[in-house]
Order: sequence, then structure tokens, then C-alpha cells
Amino acid sequence: MAGITDSKFVKQLIPYGFDMVTIGGYNVDEKTIKAGEEILKKGNRKEFKIDEECIINHIEDEVNNIKEDFDIIVSANLRATTPDPIVEISKIKELDVIELNAHCRQEELTNINCGQEIMKNPVYLEEFIKELTKKSKSKVSVKIRANVEGINTLNISKIIDKLNTNFLHLDCMKPGSPNCDLEIIKKINENTDIFIIGNNSIIDINSAKNMLSAGASGISIARATLNGKLSFNLNKIKNYSKKEVSI
Ligand SMILES: Cc1cc2nc3c(=O)[nH]c(=O)nc-3n(C[C@H](O)[C@H](O)[C@H](O)COP(=O)(O)O)c2cc1C
Repeated sequence: MAGITDSKFVKQLIPYGFDMVTIGGYNVDEKTIKAGEEILKKGNRKEFKIDEECIINHIEDEVNNIKEDFDIIVSANLRATTPDPIVEISKIKELDVIELNAHCRQEELTNINCGQEIMKNPVYLEEFIKELTKKSKSKVSVKIRANVEGINTLNISKIIDKLNTNFLHLDCMKPGSPNCDLEIIKKINENTDIFIIGNNSIIDINSAKNMLSAGASGISIARATLNGKLSFNLNKIKNYSKKEVSI
């Protein structure tokens, strides 16, 4: 989930000890696909180039390709302006988790109330997630970015928790700092019961341990995997997590 969406890429990384892989983000409705086309014009983000009619089959093929070789939890990170297209994707038989992307900050997406913009309207966020948890055939994850101006990350996390979401995937970035915000992980852990997937700046065993010690139940890694390898093995820190990822 760092600009590379394909099953071939994640399959290279599974042997480093991952329990779950996330593919995407995919744009799954007309408005987000159109926004993706605008983003595509600006740069080389090939993952934005999939038509609406093809998207479900495309994701299904990717999931099956992973599951053919690995017994692993597969999640798909999805952008949409209404819940129904995401619910449709949750019907893919082998897909374990659908993840609402409330994280992207490209203006083409925020202009259509998508990505991190969803957090600016907690009522809308709540309605959106309620529909997902009510109708989804897969488990539901919500990916958010911490410390977005004007947004109280803890309050948003509490809303996500009370709606019976299975995972809160939190990019705990700290604007203006090279480090991530472990304090926000701690606060959310103390104030919710949700399974937190802590994300941002995990580059080695120490940073992974710090994220888990702060209160995350799991971790996710993006940029440190971009060359298709990880410089450490996650099996070394499995006992650090208080909760197991199960589906
Ligand atoms: C090129 C690139 C593309 C990304 N695309 C997505 C995306 O589509 N959906 C998403 O939720 N996060 C996306 N991210 C964010 C990462 O998943 C992650 O949250 C962020 O890079 C911080 O984690 P890291 O320090 O492990 O890289 C992207 C990151 C990069 C660098």
C-alpha cells in the first residue's frame, strides 16, 4: 500500500513474517475513479488506472493470486464516496477485510469528500462506517491519518471504535517531525478497545517494538518495503503483540 498494489509485490514480502497484507488503495466508484484519472495526469501512479467495470474482477484476481500460495489475511484499501461500492467488494469470497481509506490527502480526492476529508464530518463518517459494518461480508478496517489540522484524532478513533469496526489502521504521522506520534497510539489504546494497527516510520525491530509497546495491537509497514524486501523479520517480535490478528 505504498503505490504498489499488486499481489506479486505483496507475495515477495509475506515470508518476512506478515500476518496480513493490504492491497490498494483502489478507487471503486465513478467519482474516485475520475479523481484518480486527474492524479494520474500529474505523475506515475499506475494503480489509479483501473476502470469501474473492471475493478471488482481485478481485486478478486489479486486476492486469489495471493491466497493460492499463502494462508494469509488479505485486506483491500478502498476509496469511495458512498458505502455501497465498498460493500460490493466485501462480497469477494476470499477477501478477508475491506478497509475504508479515510487517509489519502490528494486534493482531487479531498475535493470530493473522500480520503482524510471524511474525518472532517464526524456525522458523515459515522453513517458511512455504520453502513459498512452492517452490510459488509468481510471484516471492516478504517485507515486514518493522525494529527490532521482541525481534527481530533482521539475523538475520531472513539467513533470508529463504538461502531464495531474490527481494525483501526492509524498512520500516526506527526507533521513537521521525522518521528511518528506514539503518544496518540497510547491515548487511543487507553480510551478504546479497538485493535490498532499502528503505522508510520517502522524501519527496524526497534521501531516496531516501540509501536507495540505504545499500545498498538499490530503494525503495518509501507515505505520500508518498497524495494520488495524487509531488512528484518517480524517473527522476532510476535510475542510483543497483546492481541492476535484473527479473521
Ligand atoms: C507512494 C505511496 C502511496 C501510498 N498509497 C496509499 C494508499 O493508497 N492508501 C493508503 O491508505 N495509504 C497509502 N500510503 C501511505 C502508507 O500506506 C503509509 O500509511 C505511510 O507511508 C506511512 O507508513 P510508512 O512510514 O511505513 O511508510 C502510500 C504511501 C506511499 C509512500
